[in-house]
Amino acid sequence: MQILTKISGKSKDYLPLLDMINQGVQVKSDLVEKNLANEKLVAFLEQDIEQVGLEKILFHYKQNKEKKIPFLPVDKLISEDEIDDIMQVLKEVLSSGRFTSGPYIPLFEKNLADYLGIKYVIATSSGTDALMISLISAGVHPGDEVILPANSFAATENAVLAIGAVPVYADIDPESYCLAASEIEKHITEKTVCILPVHLYGKQADMGAISAVAKTHGLKIIEDGCQAIGSSGLGAFGDGLVLSFNPYKNLGVCGKAGAIATNDEALAEKCIEISYHGFESGKKNMKRSDFGFNAKIDNLQAAIGLERMKYLGLHNFKRFYLAKQYIEQLQALEQDGYIKLPKLTDDHVWHLFPIRVLKGDRDEIAKQLLDVYGIETDVYYPILSHQHQTNLVSKKYKQTTLPHTEKAAQQLLHLPLYPGMPLQDQEKVIKGVHHVIKSSVQ
Ligand SMILES: Cc1ncc(COP(=O)(O)O)c(C=O)c1O
Repeated sequence: MQILTKISGKSKDYLPLLDMINQGVQVKSDLVEKNLANEKLVAFLEQDIEQVGLEKILFHYKQNKEKKIPFLPVDKLISEDEIDDIMQVLKEVLSSGRFTSGPYIPLFEKNLADYLGIKYVIATSSGTDALMISLISAGVHPGDEVILPANSFAATENAVLAIGAVPVYADIDPESYCLAASEIEKHITEKTVCILPVHLYGKQADMGAISAVAKTHGLKIIEDGCQAIGSSGLGAFGDGLVLSFNPYKNLGVCGKAGAIATNDEALAEKCIEISYHGFESGKKNMKRSDFGFNAKIDNLQAAIGLERMKYLGLHNFKRFYLAKQYIEQLQALEQDGYIKLPKLTDDHVWHLFPIRVLKGDRDEIAKQLLDVYGIETDVYYPILSHQHQTNLVSKKYKQTTLPHTEKAAQQLLHLPLYPGMPLQDQEKVIKGVHHVIKSSVQ
């Protein structure tokens, strides 16, 4: 057993932390790094876990009374405790009248920077805006090519398209489902300016290898980390890291928001300008960039983000716990060749839980799970970027083939996983998956 002498509260610590708790080691809460995101993790460790029981503390939710097990129940993505905290700060912001610009923005940015260990953070009105702003600021111009995977949320490619640049899709690594470093070079042309890897489902792409390719060819890297906040070492390789705080993300506000994090001062300054009308940082109504968007985070959302950030470390630990349960309890199906499970790795913070269906029809299995057991599943993402029914795709991407991406897209199925998920619901999902998958190939 690995004994932690310091706890960062991020993905690499969750397995050893859980082992220590399970072995009855008293984990002192003062080992936990002091930052806002760890506040509730500290409070959790200060309870008498051995006496009360780990699962009782972590998953104290009422069992779902309805027969259906929802995939991502919007009303359960925020806890009563969070709502209470937010109500107090809302009152303060509402009476101050400072809804758009205001003091909570720099405070939210500072707390994010401390948590990420990255010098500059620019909070924006969404992850999509953060992608556009960071690409422009990194020097991507209309007509330039950006290399990215084709299995992300449409926001990733849309940000490239919206700034007039050209998405060039490269294949994924079939183990991680993230952009494969080995696939990038064959797509590099004299127009390539930037690589845009996506840390899909909360798992980081192989950034060491991707960064080596970028260095060799003098390319920028903007990391799409919208699904991966809390993953250890996030943003260490890219010129810029993009985050999303929409309500479905591991850290969500009560609306839309995002951020760019970077250690590059010049890039940070440019992002500040592009995120607000081209105005020079700290100067009112004085342009330095040719243009800019109206895309800063609202003060109101920043205040909410600060409240919700207190839960991030604990919620990510709960996500890890659920992912580990799935991996252990579905192991037999993997051993018998029915499915492929994701691995518990240090750089994975569980945003979504994918299983890969190797035997039987994925869509039929999803239907059976719903019809017979009331279990909702989902597919992220059902249509790949180069296969949409759009004019652009039929003109430009008809010849694009990405064997690993395409095969994975036919087989991936996502199971419910969110911090407020009752364990009894997860047990039902596990049972249902066992029955349906085995019976689907008889
Ligand atoms: C991988 C990825 N990139 C970009 C985005 C866009 O973020 P937002 O919804 O905040 O615009 C999302 C989230 O929706 C995402 O999952």
